Amino acid sequence: MSRRVLVVEEGPEFEQTAARALVSGMDDGSVKIGLSGGRTPLGVFRELAKIPSFDASRVELFWVDERGVPPGHADSNYGAALKSLIEPLKIDKSRVHRMEGELPAEEAARRYDALLALRAPAGLDVAVLGIGEDGHTASLFPGSPALDSPARAAAAVSPKGQPRITMTPAYLNLAPRHLVLVGGAEKAAIAKRALADDPSLPISRVRPRQGSVWVVGRAAASS
Ligand code: 6PG
Repeated sequence: MSRRVLVVEEGPEFEQTAARALVSGMDDGSVKIGLSGGRTPLGVFRELAKIPSFDASRVELFWVDERGVPPGHADSNYGAALKSLIEPLKIDKSRVHRMEGELPAEEAARRYDALLALRAPAGLDVAVLGIGEDGHTASLFPGSPALDSPARAAAAVSPKGQPRITMTPAYLNLAPRHLVLVGGAEKAAIAKRALADDPSLPISRVRPRQGSVWVVGRAAASS
């Protein structure tokens, strides 16, 4: 698996580079994209809308993880993408497949498993991932049993007692490529470990077939 690391200035350059990297791998057909939550992708989503070759009518959106909250909650990953990506680009609701964070997490994970079996049985075309300061990726936390759920595409987890739903590495790895976004000085220590392939970090278990592009902000790359 290859990894291309692009170190860029934090802010607009980071967001533009990431948006271009996402679009550059899209072919002419329909594209199934797995979105992560967190703050980092939001500016990238806004940049997508400015790229003339980005045809939003061809994308189908999925989530790599969701928090156990309803869509209107401030922590909802779907809710954040709704404002920054889905509404501005007028992506048709029939092409938006959210995880149902308002349901008990195990039920939501089972329902998402079934949805993925129907809508994306061969995997996503691209997954957008991040890395938390504590080392989590999607909602795969270091040591999580979901890391070893080969039979499931989505699993329920409860780090620190908070219910979440996450795609599993087995499913994420069906995607040919991943875009990994790591920005901010607070990520410097974790970025260093991730780039050194620390095996205790879930990102080390996520290895797409064709390879990944990592967009790393200058401050995150500074350690
Ligand atoms: C989540 C995310 C998570 C995220 C990282 C980075 O819902 O928690 O999907 O995996 O990508 O925590 O988040 P930031 O972009 O906010 O640093």
